[in-house]
Amino acid sequence: MNKLPEPYRLISFDTIDSTNKYALDVAKQGEEGGLWIWAGEQTAGRGRRGRQWSSEKGNLAASLLLLSPAPPNVVGQLPLLTATAVHRAICDLIPPHMQAALRIKWPNDLLWGDQKICGILLESTFLVDGRQAVAVGIGVNCRTHPDKTDGLKAADIAQTGYDVSPEQLLERLIWQMADRLSVWQQGSNFAAIRDDWLSCARGLGQHVVARLPNETVEGTFEMLDEDGALIMRLADGQTRTIYAGDVFLPGM
Ligand code: BTN
Repeated sequence: MNKLPEPYRLISFDTIDSTNKYALDVAKQGEEGGLWIWAGEQTAGRGRRGRQWSSEKGNLAASLLLLSPAPPNVVGQLPLLTATAVHRAICDLIPPHMQAALRIKWPNDLLWGDQKICGILLESTFLVDGRQAVAVGIGVNCRTHPDKTDGLKAADIAQTGYDVSPEQLLERLIWQMADRLSVWQQGSNFAAIRDDWLSCARGLGQHVVARLPNETVEGTFEMLDEDGALIMRLADGQTRTIYAGDVFLPGM
């Protein structure tokens, strides 16, 4: 790995249980923010909603530990910021004609067509000194993929005919994240991140279905609000703000 942007550091493991778990554990032991943790494979990779994330050799599994990166009420913008960084990092390594198929599914999955190739999981805890330790976990299927992830079909980058190594991708990602974090942290400047996110979004302006814990809502995916929540226009003309849930194009 070439030189990293200041003040970031990198620690790597051949095998670990979970890079997210490691990040939060070392934060409790006094580690400072800005540490990237990278593993060749994970034995207990964590996915959203307590699911397991399959994390085999040849794929990227990494977490960035941040300490109080922003006020707690805007930390929810970080997964969207991260998705744009991963999107850019992958696009830098594949030819332009392949890039159009790579889209961000709200809020932070990356899909190749209909198939998931990247998942992002933020986990956080408050330390005894009051700071919030945040693990930004990123899993990208570079060379292998499970059958399904999160109820979606999965894919890997190699299937497109382009081999992207986890090392190459991580290096790009570290720089992309550093650039975005420095902009965002100047007064929690989310506008630029949101515009970037919208330019890579899947389903914007289209009819989408949101599966929420207690109901299913359908409407047009109209916008993101200033916190990154999805604004949906319902059939009766009202808007509905979706803060959490799974959003699909019909038929997926
Ligand atoms: C999802 O379910 O979509 C999120 C998956 C996040 C997986 C990554 S791999 C690196 C980091 N460490 C973990 O244990 N999980 C995240």
